Amino acid sequence: MITLPPPSSSPGLFLVFEGLDGSGKSTQCRMLAEALRQREREVVETREPTQGPWGKKIRAMAASGQRVSPEEELDWFIQDRKEHIATLITPSLNAGKVVIQDRYYFSTAAYQGSRGLDVQEILTLHESFAPPPDRVFLIEVSPEVGLKRVQVSRGETPDAFETLAGLQRCGEVFDGLQIPGLVRINGELSPNEIHQRILEEVLPLL
Ligand code: ADP
Ligand code: TYD
Repeated sequence: MITLPPPSSSPGLFLVFEGLDGSGKSTQCRMLAEALRQREREVVETREPTQGPWGKKIRAMAASGQRVSPEEELDWFIQDRKEHIATLITPSLNAGKVVIQDRYYFSTAAYQGSRGLDVQEILTLHESFAPPPDRVFLIEVSPEVGLKRVQVSRGETPDAFETLAGLQRCGEVFDGLQIPGLVRINGELSPNEIHQRILEEVLPLL
């Protein structure tokens, strides 16, 4: 009999959402968290950039429109992520919780990659210290749809990360991503259709 290995070495379950701005990640994180809590799972909902000191610095920079160099930006995201892993992700997974996370290092590959940094180097670097997710749900929308949702539905002014040309390059990185546990989902389906698709993947892992 062939037995498949468990999804990861920790007792928890690590579920990551990726996609362009406005793709619907936050909506799906909320829906999944609620569905799993109804099934009596202990869920930790989190996101990157975080609310910690590095995350605050990143958001302030994005809001100001004054971007630092791609190398410095990469460094800030990595500092933020290392702190996030040490203080929340790893302890939660070790305690057997379900971690539902809005963005992880695949966003770094896409967004800092879109500024000219080497995508493969970013991925390889993270593989050396970042816990691997059990699933990465990549919610796919065109940059136009994503930006329109950010502007119209959310009534928000796009920040420095959210230009059409930049998002097109990010989208190309996401399109080419080949990583274990990747699940691509059409982000133009209704929120509930997307949620059902995600549940089909997640429920067998519980
Ligand atoms: P993200 O976290 O990826 O930036 P959000 O979940 O905040 O995206 O969604 C951006 C906007 O689009 C919100 O106003 C949300 O209500 C709306 N939205 C989310 N999912 C969908 C969907 N599947 N179809 C249409 N609109 C959506
Ligand atoms: P966030 O506030 O989560 O935006 P949204 O709600 O639209 O997803 O993220 C802020 C921006 O940070 C987002 O445009 C993507 C960018 N980003 C990077 O450039 N690199 C990264 O590693 C991460 C995690 C996010």
